[in-house]
This record gives sequence, C-alpha cells and structure tokens, in this order.
Amino acid sequence: MIDISELMRDPLKESRAYIAGQAIPAALMQPGVVKLNANENQYGPSPMAIKAMARELQNGNLYPQSVMQALREKIASHYQKDPGQITLFNGSGAAINAIGDTFLNPEDEVLICSPTYMAYAPLPSRFGAKIVEVPALEGLYTDLDALYGGISDRTKLIFICNPNNPTGTLLNHHALKNFIYHLPEHVICVVDEAYYDWIDVPGYESAMNFIDERSKLIVLRTFSKIYGMAGCRVGFAVTNEETAKTLGTASNLFYTNRIGAAGAIDALDDTAFCKMVYRNNCEQREYMSTEMEKMGIDVAPSQASFIYFNAHCDTDKCLQELEEKHIFIRTFPASCLRVSIGRPEQNQAFLDAMKEFLIRNRKVA
Ligand SMILES: Cc1ncc(COP(=O)(O)O)c(C=O)c1O
Repeated sequence: MIDISELMRDPLKESRAYIAGQAIPAALMQPGVVKLNANENQYGPSPMAIKAMARELQNGNLYPQSVMQALREKIASHYQKDPGQITLFNGSGAAINAIGDTFLNPEDEVLICSPTYMAYAPLPSRFGAKIVEVPALEGLYTDLDALYGGISDRTKLIFICNPNNPTGTLLNHHALKNFIYHLPEHVICVVDEAYYDWIDVPGYESAMNFIDERSKLIVLRTFSKIYGMAGCRVGFAVTNEETAKTLGTASNLFYTNRIGAAGAIDALDDTAFCKMVYRNNCEQREYMSTEMEKMGIDVAPSQASFIYFNAHCDTDKCLQELEEKHIFIRTFPASCLRVSIGRPEQNQAFLDAMKEFLIRNRKVA
C-alpha cells in the first residue's frame, strides 16, 4: 500500500508538520475562557459588519464578484488608491501563500529577520526555495542592515512584518522607506501591516505610501485584527497595478467570500467601533506592560495588539498553570511568551495568574 502522503510534491513533504497544524485543547472551546493566544479582537466583529453580513446571507447562492468589486472600490477610496491596486484574499495568510505561488522558483531565497510571523519561514520550502534568516537587533527590532547584508543574487522575496509579530516592535518609517528604495531590482519586498491599525505614533507612514516609488513592493493588510473579523477571512494586498495583475495570475478568481466581503465594506465605516477598540488597546498595552515590568518581566516595546515578554521562568509550566485557570497565551523559543491584549477584565485575569505563578516559580538567576 502506498500511503497517499507519499504522493505529495516532494518540497511539500518537508513542510508537512506545519500543514498538520495544532490540536485545539478541549478547554479552549468552552465559553468564558480567556483566549489571549491568537491576537484576536475580543470585541469584534464590528456591529456594522455583523449587520452587513447578516443581510448578505440571503445572497449566499450567488458568486461573489459584485461584492468583491464593491469592496475593492471601498478599500481603494479608503486608502486613496485605485481599485486596480487592490487584490483581495481569503485573509492575508492566503496572500502570503499566493505570493509564494506567484514568485518562488526552486533555489530562490526568501529573506526574513527572526523572530517574525511564523507563516513566512515554511513558505519557501513548499517550492524548493530556501529561507535565509538574520537575527533581530538587541531590543528585538528588525535589523534592516542585516537584511540588506543578507541579499544575494538569488534573493526573490523579503518579508518584513511591521509592527512585527510576535515582538510588537515597530520600525522607524524613514529607515524602512530608505531600505525599500535602495533594494536591488530583482528583489520583491513584502511589508505585512496586519497590526498597523494599532500603532500609536502620530504621523507614522504606512508602506502603502511608498508604492508609487518602488514597483516591487507588496503591502498586506487584514480585516482580522482591528475589525475583529478573523473568522470571516478577508485580507488584501496593496501594490501597483502591474504587480496586482501578476499576483492575480496565481489567485483564485473568487479569493474571498461575499459574506465576509460585505462585512468588510461596512467595517471600514464603523469608526466608532474602531476608535473604541483602539483606545482600549492603547490603554491596556500601557497598563499591562507597566504591571508586568513591576513583576520583573522583560517586556518588548509593543505597538501592536499583543505583548511579547520574557518572565525568566519555565514557559511550559507557566502555560500549563495558566491553562488550568482557562487562560491561554503562547510560548515562543528562547523562553519567550506572548499575550494578546483583550478586554480589561481578561487582561487582569492574566496579570493576576501570572503574578501568582511567578511568586511560586521564578527562576533564581
Ligand atoms: C503578521 C501577520 N500576518 C498575517 C496574518 C494572517 O492574518 P489573516 O490570514 O487572518 O488575515 C497574521 C495572523 O495572525 C499575522 O499575525
């Protein structure tokens, strides 16, 4: 008997562990759990998006072109772009896959600065291409000089997550602009701005502003974060029109669904909801970071909807004890942890549990 998994494309066999995904603990499925492990918006979807999606359900028998076109136009006018510069995806995760499908040949190199979003590193192996990683600077900031130094003749893609997941650190936008403008012609830069909407730096420029000057630039956005629509699967790429056409070659014609797309159109108008969740995130980010520092935790400076930290403890044990209280966060290599910012009472439950754990379990240096 030949196992069907043996018939997979060879490069895919290498990334099978990633494809298989994680088992979901039964406790995670219960109502009332404090689920701060996946950077989900604990307030969303936006009420206006919910109404629009409920209305759209009755058209579920129809293919989504008209709603997709309306969403493309809405996003374009929201960000002062042309509709031809917007490519819709089934979440920005699907955009990352489509970028691989479109551009990666065997032996190409994909450059990243680690730690960064976990979906980039497994991507090249699916095409027989190679990941090249450079480490972050001290303080966990993305090292643009090291990325520049890591470029070779084979570099096809550079992924920059800004603000970065999992660290939450934000690049200086002048430095990023300068980096993008000086890239060699054969390199495509992807700036993943999934967490852009949480930034609290007046006048901070999106990499979308650099598209007119640098044609090989792809900026990714998602409705999964500030708009609270992670389960509705809508993301998009902003590029110049030429790049949009190239990306479209590898994209399914119906690369989103009409329910999510209808919700996304109205979510963009729900400024009251966005203001409320943004204000909560800013206040709670400040409060949680301060409280964690008081506990002797090293906290990375976050401009996102989560906090990355080193509590100098046994992280598996920490995770387990928190899970026993139905509080879920995430572990990362090098004894690091990440907690998403939720509602005040959820955040307080996390802080109380963390304090209790650390009193009993702190590693003595
Ligand atoms: C940096 C980053 N990019 C992309 C995604 C994918 O988002 P989605 O596929 O929900 O749009 C995530 C999800 O957490 C993320 O953290």
